Amino acid sequence: MLVDKGNHKHFMAKEIHEQPEVVGHTLAHYIDMVHERVALPSEMPFDWKKLKRLSISACGTAFYAGLVAKYWFERFAKLPVEIDIASEFRYRDAPLEEGDLAIFISQSGETADTLASLRYAKEHKLHVLSVVNVPTSTIARDSDVVMPTLAGPEIGVASTKAFTCQLAVLACLAIAAGRARGELSEADEQKLVHALIEVPRLMTQALTLEPQIEKLAVELSKTRDVLYLGRGTSFPIALEGALKLKEISYIHAEGYAAGELKHGPIALIDEKMPVIVIAPHDRVFDKTVSNMQEVAARGGRIILVTDPKGSQESTIDSAHTLTLPEMASTVTPLVYAVPVQLMAYHTAAVIGTDVDQPRNLAKSVTVE
Ligand code: G6P
Repeated sequence: MLVDKGNHKHFMAKEIHEQPEVVGHTLAHYIDMVHERVALPSEMPFDWKKLKRLSISACGTAFYAGLVAKYWFERFAKLPVEIDIASEFRYRDAPLEEGDLAIFISQSGETADTLASLRYAKEHKLHVLSVVNVPTSTIARDSDVVMPTLAGPEIGVASTKAFTCQLAVLACLAIAAGRARGELSEADEQKLVHALIEVPRLMTQALTLEPQIEKLAVELSKTRDVLYLGRGTSFPIALEGALKLKEISYIHAEGYAAGELKHGPIALIDEKMPVIVIAPHDRVFDKTVSNMQEVAARGGRIILVTDPKGSQESTIDSAHTLTLPEMASTVTPLVYAVPVQLMAYHTAAVIGTDVDQPRNLAKSVTVE
């Protein structure tokens, strides 16, 4: 298939902008839009109720999608989740129980570490489910169940649209698990699904922040280090933000759970250090604000990514505030990923790096 950049300067920009559409396609594959219910396209070869534990493994950006999913599976389905970076999973002798479920997440479906973990799980007689973007890939072929993401070909080495599509699939799967295990009522399911259906529209709104982010990127391009903070499902988005920025702009960036700030990274904060805080107005918002106060007190430059309520209630003077629309807290990881991707993209574009093919990185890593 021939893929071009359309009107965009880089594939990455095009792929960021495609998200409302491809996330919409992916959701339509897993949701009965009329009844606002999850309708998984394949039968599960196991009983959700009998599962004692779920193991998730993946690499890079796909690992962060798994980290978000851990919060969802535990909250919606009360299913304990263990999550590993794939290269660690099979060497740490985790006690695995026959008949439990292992989920592997991979855009390419060819990542060697993820594939090796999958085979390890099979040796231990776990059910193997994969979330992949390439349905003909080795990981897909070796799985008991394949849940495809319908992101279309992703060319930019730094994953963007595949990530949000992975989140869309994993959210549907966690809701299905919650229903099957009797932890979510029909009304709960409808509410969650309704929120997911809103995501493409919310992403389109998030993309309108681009001119503001382009200006901010000029400032970010002059810095040496950037810290990203978040709590709950915004923590993996902070990790993903830092990964995106370092991958393509070569600026050192770290993602941290906001509450962990005081246990180390606070020592780095001075007036030169931008601190990007991912803080939708959710149940941990007040806690994140108190972490922001610690940054402000040390002269750190706060870039706050929040919603209207959050920007109203935050008592901190931030250097910049990016305001996203109000949304259900379940879907914030999908929508907040957009400004985070745009910040990395525009910073790299200002610096002039090879955004689509950053040095030393490969789209698919087939060696361990
Ligand atoms: C490489 C890519 C990343 C990707 C990771 C996992 O490091 O540069 O963008 O997240 O591999 O790839 P996968 O295809 O398994 O999702």
